[in-house]
Amino acid sequence: MQTVDTIPGTPPVSDENILDIQDLLARRGSEKYRLHERYVNPQIVRVLKTIGFDKFYVRGHGPHLFDEADNKYLDLLSGWGVFALGRNHPVVNRTLKDVLDAELPNLGQMDIAPLAGLLAEELITVAPNPALERVFFTNSGTEAVEGSIKLARAATRKSKIVFCEGAFHGLSMGSLSLNGSVMFREGFGPFLPGCERVAFNDLEALERILSGGDVAAFIVEPIQGKGVNIPDDEYLPEAARLCKKYGALFIADEIQTGLGRTGRMWAVEHWGAEPDILLCAKALSGGQVPVGAILGRRDIFDKLFSKMDRAVVHSSTFGTNNMAMAAGLATLHVLRRERLIEHSAEMGQKILEDMRPFIQRYDFVKDVRGKGLMIGIEFSSPKSLKLKAAWKLLEAANESLFCQMILIPLLKKHRVLAQVAAHKGHVIKILPALVIDDSDREWMVSAFDDVIDSCHRIPGAVWDLGRSLASHARAESR
Ligand SMILES: Cc1ncc(COP(=O)(O)O)c(C=O)c1O
Repeated sequence: MQTVDTIPGTPPVSDENILDIQDLLARRGSEKYRLHERYVNPQIVRVLKTIGFDKFYVRGHGPHLFDEADNKYLDLLSGWGVFALGRNHPVVNRTLKDVLDAELPNLGQMDIAPLAGLLAEELITVAPNPALERVFFTNSGTEAVEGSIKLARAATRKSKIVFCEGAFHGLSMGSLSLNGSVMFREGFGPFLPGCERVAFNDLEALERILSGGDVAAFIVEPIQGKGVNIPDDEYLPEAARLCKKYGALFIADEIQTGLGRTGRMWAVEHWGAEPDILLCAKALSGGQVPVGAILGRRDIFDKLFSKMDRAVVHSSTFGTNNMAMAAGLATLHVLRRERLIEHSAEMGQKILEDMRPFIQRYDFVKDVRGKGLMIGIEFSSPKSLKLKAAWKLLEAANESLFCQMILIPLLKKHRVLAQVAAHKGHVIKILPALVIDDSDREWMVSAFDDVIDSCHRIPGAVWDLGRSLASHARAESR
């Protein structure tokens, strides 16, 4: 019997009594759809089966997924943005294994952890403005948003939080109260009092709300994830100035845009906007261990943690756990060493150059926009009467169907996995790992080119699919 490890007072760990995960997956991995249907969420299983996304991926490496027949797929979703470094980056994996092997005194609670201090120091070093001096760690993006609401209220002694139409800040109750989409909100009210919506990219409307002087904070995604909406150049710096003028805090939600996604470390750097509070999560995980962080001004944090008996007035059991902190440190290390932020900017620019000609070439393509590797392709009603009639047919059944009609053959024919940028929207979002190379770029561009081209041909296979999607959608809405 080979002994793997021993801990005094516990039985020795051996090949016979370990939980053999690889064996478990080999034996039962193929039951995943049945298990989820029965125990987790049958509706997501129905969705995947309806659109033919019910794959059996068995391995992930860099920007690619592999199925059981070892077919390679290009993943433009990146786990909703967590795999900035790609899947299973060897440096991240090695760091995490080293942390486990070191048997560190994790989560002492009446203790503080060196790795958390080190990650906080690194985040402050790369923060977009020197006023950001303190860090609070969370286990997800939405928890970072929740914490920022509390920080803003504690620091300003005001309660109102202003958010944007179309915003997405997470789905727990506080962040849902700041969500700009009807679909996500429906059925969950009443929401947190004092949350007010304002149009994105509208400074006059923002000033009208802020001028009441009763706003604790304005929270905004520098580039909105739902729709890949990029503001005008003056919007964010001016919003920050208005917040300062009227005594509100300016919170930049960089949970999706942060850590190189847009070709800068932080998206606010494109415009020189200086937030009082900055939120990050997703990519900080290295794709392996959930983690988020709130970066904020020292005086703001001092108002929350104002004396010893308020030292843990905002806290989270797992917040500073070693695996998460090590994943964050490894992520920042890899971003720097592999120059991934510069790479994201260069690659994103090339993709825009490749795809912007689609606007002229294809009647359905309205816009191709983005920064770095956060790119949106927007479709709209075409000019040609024949195409317009087909578009209307789909729209009448469900506003998301046109994008689905592109995404399905993109996966089926080209093995490219992408997503609709927002419910009932006409934007497909491209959010690949920052490590993609020119062959991935060519793969993606030619796949989109081919599928978009096909949907300009009626009759054709793509529109047969469109008709079948429409009849499914009509049946579902009955
Ligand atoms: C901008 C933004 N904020 C917050 C969140 C919520 O993060 P999480 O899903 O980790 O709670 C997301 C997730 O997509 C996001 O894109």
